[in-house]
Amino acid sequence: MDARTFPHLFTPLTIRGATLRNRIMSTGHDTVLPTDGTVNDALVAYHEARARGGAGLIVLQVSGVHETARYTTHMLMATEDRSIEGYRRVAEAVHQHGTVLFAQLFHPGREIMESEGGLLAVAYAPSLAPNERFHVMPRPLSRGMIAEIIAGYGDAARRMHEAGLDGVEIVASHGYLPSQFLNPRVNRREDAYGGTPENCLRFLRDVIADVRAKTDERFVIGLRISGGEMDEEGLTAGEALDAIAALDGALDYVHVIAGTSASLGGAIHIVPPMTIENAYMAPFAATVKARVGMPVFVTGRINQPQDAEGVIASNQADVCGMTRALIADPEMPRKAREGRAEDIRACVACNQACIGHFHRGYPISCIQHPVTGRELRYSTVTPAAEPKRVMVVGGGPAGMKAAAVAASRGHRVTLYEASTRLGGQTLLAQLLPGRAEFGGLVTNLERELELAQVEVRKGVRVDKALIEAEAPDAVIVATGATPFRPRLEQGDGMQVVDAWQVIKGEVTVGASVLVSDWRCDWIGIGVAEMLARAGSAVRLAVNGTTAGEVLPLYVRDHSIGRLHRLGVTVTPFARLYGCDGDTVYLQHTTSSEAIVVEGIDTLVVCHGHAPVMELSEALEDYLGTVHVIGDGLAPRTAEEAIFEGFRTAWTL
Ligand SMILES: Cc1cc2nc3c(=O)[nH]c(=O)nc-3n(C[C@H](O)[C@H](O)[C@H](O)COP(=O)(O)OP(=O)(O)OC[C@H]3O[C@@H](n4cnc5c(N)ncnc54)[C@H](O)[C@@H]3O)c2cc1C
Ligand SMILES: Cc1cc2nc3c(=O)[nH]c(=O)nc-3n(C[C@H](O)[C@H](O)[C@H](O)COP(=O)(O)O)c2cc1C
Ligand code: SF4
Repeated sequence: MDARTFPHLFTPLTIRGATLRNRIMSTGHDTVLPTDGTVNDALVAYHEARARGGAGLIVLQVSGVHETARYTTHMLMATEDRSIEGYRRVAEAVHQHGTVLFAQLFHPGREIMESEGGLLAVAYAPSLAPNERFHVMPRPLSRGMIAEIIAGYGDAARRMHEAGLDGVEIVASHGYLPSQFLNPRVNRREDAYGGTPENCLRFLRDVIADVRAKTDERFVIGLRISGGEMDEEGLTAGEALDAIAALDGALDYVHVIAGTSASLGGAIHIVPPMTIENAYMAPFAATVKARVGMPVFVTGRINQPQDAEGVIASNQADVCGMTRALIADPEMPRKAREGRAEDIRACVACNQACIGHFHRGYPISCIQHPVTGRELRYSTVTPAAEPKRVMVVGGGPAGMKAAAVAASRGHRVTLYEASTRLGGQTLLAQLLPGRAEFGGLVTNLERELELAQVEVRKGVRVDKALIEAEAPDAVIVATGATPFRPRLEQGDGMQVVDAWQVIKGEVTVGASVLVSDWRCDWIGIGVAEMLARAGSAVRLAVNGTTAGEVLPLYVRDHSIGRLHRLGVTVTPFARLYGCDGDTVYLQHTTSSEAIVVEGIDTLVVCHGHAPVMELSEALEDYLGTVHVIGDGLAPRTAEEAIFEGFRTAWTL
């Protein structure tokens, strides 16, 4: 297999002065790598890795075009000439690998997420239209400010052009300022910028004209817009289509995605989780293509070259955004072109370390690829100074990553797994409703083991005696975790089971179930959905402020919507106390009052995990080198497990 396997994906495309070598694009995405509003070394290294890996086009994360555009405290700002140097450095780094570079011109309008130093910012929008998600009441823009912001778009583009970028993408997607002007439910103005469809378009027309006037004829101007904001108040697909058609001719390309930042339901589509189907916006892109002459780009859950090839080959779009695919594997385009598609570490749309980190204010990474966001430190694999014999105990994500990375550095590695299958808890995680794709972690890690030529011994439970007999140079203990059972005041009559028993199908639950969820992660919410789908009446009692409290937001909110549709009752602030007969006793975590739930036949306990410590404890007096990692050290998530496996192998 070679590039002919994906002939359409690897066909170049010229737009004005820019020629994309293929149809694979890394779309604009906030990395939380910049620290002072300008491009820094970490961001240059991040994008250079994706350019080196073969992406045709990289679009930089949003750059604010005006002081009022600061929607987070760590975004890029293109409001001053001092930003030019950073843009130039990233352009040079990306260009030397043959990748085209655009940047996003951005104003969020009323979508202000964070505040500087704890003080709420003044948000501006076309009209007095409150934002549901961030609870922001904007101030209507004066005509003077509109003119200033329009000039800000042009000035920012001028700086990017001067820095050597190939083009810009105006962000009219996700309910941000240009979309607020387009949307008649948000734009209630009665002047030249509102009231009629043409007036609602005026802001964008003026922005495009100003950008064109301040750049040259080789510079590309594109538009990002949601082909449906997926919200009652949001821009509809029809409205978006009409706006796109009206701007055909003024623009060089249009880039369609879905969703809005303005509501929790619409925001899910900003970074669609695995519960949303692959390439789901391609049909809308095809509708746009039938209506306009300019190239159409599409993004949203296109995570494999096979899917992208299908989209381009069927003429639904001209370029595919494959953002998380490149976050998970920057080498994806090169592997596809060289006929090594099976070596690609496919993104599983878990949203944990990419957008999950963003929402928690941390730099971008990927749970499967810890190098992402840490390129300055880990980009080049350093061969081991001296090859060692390494025993890795436990074939979950931690052990698998440790073994693969250690072997790729030249160590002689044997991975031992007690059961007959590799994957550890991931094998259970993939059984939760809508979570099958999470099992991709195992497929990806198995391939990494194969490529690194790790010897795998399944069905072997390692004990201290085996380690002493093998006498390796280093032992990595990655023995994982088992369900934690809390102490309960427990009378007779109630069936009490844990989440793993339910997921494995080892128990039959009754018609009326209470799921007690201490950890507030995927398990409680997933088991509740599983049982509700199977026909039980389910109450989910969470020891947190909301179900799925610790989950990535878009994953949580999509799940909560499904639970609501299934009629699952959620009780927040609930600490499990005990059970007796058909009654479960809970306690409110702030009032300390009892919450008594009657008519329950099965209590499902989802109270996190306990580390499996037998081996690590037995090795406490062992004289050789021992590293304990992952859930076996302390139960957390696959992200820490894989990171610790990677880091340990890196330092051997
Ligand atoms: C239902 C469920 C859903 C989850 N969903 C997510 C999710 O969406 N995202 C996320 O990040 N995390 C999730 N997690 C948590 C995640 O799966 C764990 O954090 C991760 O698997 C820990 O990896 P590990 O390698 O440290 O341990 P484990 O996955 O527990 O693997 C340990 C392995 O070691 C083996 N072993 C133990 N002792 C020995 C021995 N003496 N000799 C040989 N082998 C041994 C075990 O058989 C096991 O295969 C979920 C967990 C569950 C149960
Ligand atoms: C960490 C992260 C940050 C993002 N920030 C932006 C952004 O700055 N501008 C933007 O238009 N979209 C942003 N997005 C959305 C992506 O551009 C893209 O539309 C989304 O990841 C879906 O594409 P994918 O399925 O190929 O990953 C972000 C996505 C991620 C994962
Ligand atoms: S963290 Fe998850 S969603 Fe994000 S890139 Fe990695 S696999 Fe994909």
